[in-house]
Amino acid sequence: MALPSINPITTDSWKRLQEHFKTTKDAHMKDLFAQDKERANKFTIKWDDFYVDFSKNRITEETFNLLLELANEVKLKEAIQSQFSGEIINQTEGRAVLHTALRAPKTSECYVDGANVIPEVSQVKQKIEQFTNEVVNGDRKGFTGKTFTDIVNIGIGGSDLGPAMVVDSLQYYKNHLTTHFVSNVDGDHVNEVIKKLNPETTLFVVVSKTFTTQETLSNANTLKNWFLKSAGEDAIAKHFVAVSTNIQSVKSFGIDETNIFPMWDWVGGRFSLWSAVGLTISLAVGYNNFESLLSGANKMDDHFKNEDFKTNIPVVLALISIWYNNFFKAESEAVIPYSQYLNQFATYLQQGIMESNGKSIDRNGNPIDYETGTLIWGEPGTNSQHAFFQLIHQGTKLIPADFIGFTKSLHGNQDHQDKLISNFLAQTEALLNGKTEQEVIAEGTASDIIPFKVFKGNKPTNTIFINKLSPESLGKLIAMYEHKIFVQGIIWNIFSYDQFGVELGKQLASKILKEFNGSAISDHDSSTSNLLNYYNSLE
Ligand code: F6P
Repeated sequence: MALPSINPITTDSWKRLQEHFKTTKDAHMKDLFAQDKERANKFTIKWDDFYVDFSKNRITEETFNLLLELANEVKLKEAIQSQFSGEIINQTEGRAVLHTALRAPKTSECYVDGANVIPEVSQVKQKIEQFTNEVVNGDRKGFTGKTFTDIVNIGIGGSDLGPAMVVDSLQYYKNHLTTHFVSNVDGDHVNEVIKKLNPETTLFVVVSKTFTTQETLSNANTLKNWFLKSAGEDAIAKHFVAVSTNIQSVKSFGIDETNIFPMWDWVGGRFSLWSAVGLTISLAVGYNNFESLLSGANKMDDHFKNEDFKTNIPVVLALISIWYNNFFKAESEAVIPYSQYLNQFATYLQQGIMESNGKSIDRNGNPIDYETGTLIWGEPGTNSQHAFFQLIHQGTKLIPADFIGFTKSLHGNQDHQDKLISNFLAQTEALLNGKTEQEVIAEGTASDIIPFKVFKGNKPTNTIFINKLSPESLGKLIAMYEHKIFVQGIIWNIFSYDQFGVELGKQLASKILKEFNGSAISDHDSSTSNLLNYYNSLE
């Protein structure tokens, strides 16, 4: 069954939201809070170890109800059902979208083309577990009999960003293995990593769903050639493993069939860290922690699938984001984790969100005349407070922001933790209330400086407060954003699981590559021709 394909702007709720927007757009949240003492309680969802307060948004109960109606009108419930039951919802590529099956319990069932995929998933998990244990315990050794000390993950996009972000986020849980990530085709990247490696003790994990990606194959070849300077061909089997759907090409690269961790075309690259693409995660933090990550995601899946929309975290966050994107015309959203561990979280989300929902053709094949996709960016607090917060507080742009914090610090330094959380809470309060002219005057500010010190406030934030950063809570958090992406794609009536937009640049790059070093230059615009000729003319 195909996904519903309802143009959202033709729905009754959308039209009512438009009317409602005209009358509420200037309401100040400060007044909304003053009018309703129960506001924070009404707009908070407590689930498991998550406390999600979305009351600091420019919404009223009517806005919220209309947004919920919108979700119903575009048949979100049916769409969720279609995704989880393995229907071909990635219609443009003819595939199911089942990253959720990767974290489903062993005993569950999930069918693709009439076959239950869970047993296959479990088999690969067993392989990951066994391999991880052998490497971590030192039972698996390199070509000179030494145990492994370093893991190099070679991949790009979804084959890099997810594992890199999770390994970084869970570094508190890491074992003795040192992990490196090589992604960019920029040779300086791989060479800087090489400087840190000893071929005798390094394990290479080549991750590419397609095994055709230029960057990954170039880096894998460079690392293989570097490795072969110290070892014979037969040592490759001990030091190189691959994660891919393209078994044939992996074998042609020289990797032993037993060292291939399969994945499936129903796992999208940017949603693949739960599959064997997460092998480096498992190696870095141990298989049990990898399993906890998956089980956290599975809990969020259950919440998303079963919870009423009004208390359904991903649904609510998605609807609020639609409100800003499509009615307030906010162009971007910030994600501000108050945890240095989540340093790479926004970068990771950029692929998930922008590769999925950066689309301008709807599910009926028609051009879209409303906004889709949000620009996503962010950095951890408190660092970001000293970088770009000025613009969020006093700039002209409306930037809704998710504030993510953890009530407990992992190292338990309470002095730092209290300071961190005081900033976390203070920022959303400041963004909400701002500072009035009267308040500025009362501080004794010189009269010519007063306007510069006024903060309008009314800047929206969601507060996502989680007990502790753990593999399980991180799994929940990532899955929460995955489902938010899905909900928004459904509402915008787009296909979220293809990425044809990345192909054109790849094709042109391979054409241009052939035109270096004296080969005939084909037709280009004059700017590109000049640049190409300039590059070719250099010694
Ligand atoms: O950039 C496009 C893309 O296809 C991403 O969607 C994907 O995550 C990445 O390239 C890497 O692809 P692969 O895992 O096939 O090397």
